[in-house]
Amino acid sequence: MNRSKYIIGLAVIVIIVAIGISIKSVDSQNDMVERGKYIVDAVAACGFCHTPRTGTEYNEDMYLAGHVANSPYSRYDMSLMQRGIFLASPATLTAFSGPFGSSFATNLTPDKETGLGEWTEDMFIKALRTGHHQGNVDNRKIFPPMPWKHYAQMNDSDLKAIWAYLRTIKPVKNEVSPVLNPMGRPY
Ligand code: HEC
Repeated sequence: MNRSKYIIGLAVIVIIVAIGISIKSVDSQNDMVERGKYIVDAVAACGFCHTPRTGTEYNEDMYLAGHVANSPYSRYDMSLMQRGIFLASPATLTAFSGPFGSSFATNLTPDKETGLGEWTEDMFIKALRTGHHQGNVDNRKIFPPMPWKHYAQMNDSDLKAIWAYLRTIKPVKNEVSPVLNPMGRPY
């Protein structure tokens, strides 16, 4: 009799501890997403380039969805360089042209075809750490003005938190143009 009470008591304790652990892991996942949002919105200002705007207002329906497909971008030419202008951008501030060619802020939403849906956490961290497209050192370098050299200095847990948050935002279908070389052709 005493023995079976003991076993029941032990089982109850095990169940309580297991529930406690799973609540804690949900909590720490939530904390990570919250922290990621804080870094993205308040510290690293990813939306400054990755969210299109009209005038001074961000287009919240396109939050972190990148340069709107087929929308205008500013072309660069040597006359701008002679005038000391090294970066040209349309009013959306999502496309950038300079002596390097043209770059378009990419779609950071989890959309599978046009965003980071098929990316892994490892690709994301390697892209920001190495400055190579999709985190593969055999790929081209990421174009300016993406400030990856700064983000590369973040610690692993901050980069993981950013990634965790980016997985939770609304997926937006928006096929961003590929980068262009200085001749205006696909790189
Ligand atoms: C000053 C503008 C700017 C800011 C701020 C910025 N980005 Fe970017 N980002 C860009 C541009 C432009 C590209 C496109 C570069 C390219 O295609 O080579 C880009 C590309 C990327 C890519 C794709 C890289 C690849 O492998 O092709 C990722 C991922 C990314 N940014 C994440 C972020 C995150 C996360 C933040 C905030 C922590 C951020 N960016 C802040 C401008 C910016």
